[in-house]
Amino acid sequence: MPLNACLEELAAQAAAARRSAYAPYSHFSVGAAALDEDGSVFLGSNVENASYGLTVCAERVAILKAVTTPGRSRRTTVTALAVSATPPVWPCGACRQVLAEFAGAGCLVILADAAGNVLETATLSQLLPHAFGASALATGEQH
Ligand code: THU
Repeated sequence: MPLNACLEELAAQAAAARRSAYAPYSHFSVGAAALDEDGSVFLGSNVENASYGLTVCAERVAILKAVTTPGRSRRTTVTALAVSATPPVWPCGACRQVLAEFAGAGCLVILADAAGNVLETATLSQLLPHAFGASALATGEQH
């Protein structure tokens, strides 16, 4: 499939996932679709809580579904992540950091509206430059 069609398909899936959002407090529904390196797609939507701080973003639900799906010999690598909302939103800082744990710097993030139209794309390294990661721990001080 050509890259543009692939991005549009992922954005459409994020828009569909948005309809499963549980957002009774903010009334701001977000959908996400994470594509892994095998071509599998994992959907997420935001899930709020009456204890507001326990809310989980759509992006993290999709990424963690991908990572915890059984039957894989290694951790999933997310290669693209579409986010659907109106107004459109880039992933929050916490979600960027979680994505960095399970994606390469070139992972494509797709900004889409609630109808699933692709508006813009950016790489993870553009959204999270100088990312903190495992390599810092590997070379850190040993006590
Ligand atoms: N939210 C997401 O799901 N993803 C984002 O990128 C930004 C914010 C959710 C969290 C909360 O349920 C609502 O949007 C308002 O912050």
